[in-house]
Parts: sequence; C-alpha cells; structure tokens
Amino acid sequence: MRIDKFISEQESLSRSDAKAMIKKGQVFVNGERVKSADMKLDPEKDRITLNGKEIIYRKFMYIMLNKPEGVICATRDGLSATVLELLPDSLIRKGLFPAGRLDKDTEGFVFITDDGALAHKMLSPRSHIEKEYEVTLEKPYEKEYIDIFASGITIDGDEKCLPAKLIPTADPYKVNLILHEGKYHQIKRMMTAVGNRVVHLKRIRMGGIILDPSLPSGKAREITESELLTLFEKV
Ligand code: URA
Repeated sequence: MRIDKFISEQESLSRSDAKAMIKKGQVFVNGERVKSADMKLDPEKDRITLNGKEIIYRKFMYIMLNKPEGVICATRDGLSATVLELLPDSLIRKGLFPAGRLDKDTEGFVFITDDGALAHKMLSPRSHIEKEYEVTLEKPYEKEYIDIFASGITIDGDEKCLPAKLIPTADPYKVNLILHEGKYHQIKRMMTAVGNRVVHLKRIRMGGIILDPSLPSGKAREITESELLTLFEKV
C-alpha cells in the first residue's frame, strides 16, 4: 500500500492533506523519514508514525454507538441527524455505515463498521444473531406473551416471525425481548399483535456484545477485539 493512501485512510484525511504531511517530514516508516508519497509499505509489518505518534493499523473499524432517540440509522439524511454525525473525529473514516437499523425513537446499541462482509454475515437471517431489547409497555405484560412469541407470532396478518424469547422483569411494564431477525418495526408490531403498545425501546445486546453501561447516550467507542469474537455467540 502507498504511504499517502495509508495515512489518509487510517487518519481519515484527504489524500492531499496526507501528501502535505509527508512533504513536511511529519511521517516516518520504521524510524526513517518518508521522502515520497508513493513509497510502498506493508501495513501489517511496518511501524508508521505521524508527528511522533504511532498509527495503529486497523483494516476495519467496529464501533459501538449508544444511539439517543431522534437520530436516524442511515448514512445520510437531509432532515434529521444520522448516527454517523455522532461519531467523534477519531473514529470517523470513509465507508462507515450502521449494520442494522433502529427506529428513530429507539435508543441503544448500534453497530457501525466499514467491514461489508461482516455486516452482510451479521444481517443474514441465517446467522440468527441475537438482539436483546429492553421494552417498556403501555400495559403490564401478560404471561401468555411468552409462549406466543416463543412459537413465532404472525404479525399484520401474514408475516411470520421467528421464535423470540420474552424475559419478564420485576416491573410488569418492562420486559426484555430477544430477537434473531430485524423486521421493520418488529417489536412494536409484535406488541400491537398481542394488544399492547411499546412506549420505550432500547437495544442492549447484539450477539455476545453487551451495550457498555458506562457509555453515555450519544457516545461511541471502538468495539474491542475480544468483544468482536463474541458477536456470533449466543448468551
Ligand atoms: N423493533 C422495533 O419495533 N423497533 C426497533 O427499532 C427495533 C426493533
């Protein structure tokens, strides 16, 4: 890979800014000042520094965002803020997108990445990755919901859902729900189908990755390597 491409991708800078930094002598590879923007390097092996700070190579970015209400899971939207606009400069790079969507009024864990292959695998119905939500209801939940959801409820007349697990909590207005798919407005429609209504929804887990309880609403952090290994695990 060319050094200017490496710098621009890893630091989310334009190619011309990366070239300017090289020209100013701010970039070193294995301790040697880089003289030319077309110098080739091996990102897996070479040690690259910018202004004395090592650039840790990341082929892809994996980000956990605690989405607040009112923000849209899209890469671009003319009217509302999008999840990408919440990312700090240090996490931004080209090609990022949310892998799976939450409704505008749903809070919680959004997985943002530039790894298209992983996102495809995650979103494929065959991978059945667990998604857990905290659901607040308008009316107390009823015990029969557990079996109705476990056997795969049909919503809106003809849409059959995969089996889902309802976990009651001490508060009858609050339940946790584990889904293995992501149909449009799925939980809201499931609750409507049993005669209830969702008043608040928050995603708290994707596969084995739990939304970091110390991550404030609206904030994002990188997903660690060990967390990533648990993405396809069942809890
Ligand atoms: N189900 C919904 O109804 N909305 C979401 O955002 C996620 C699951």
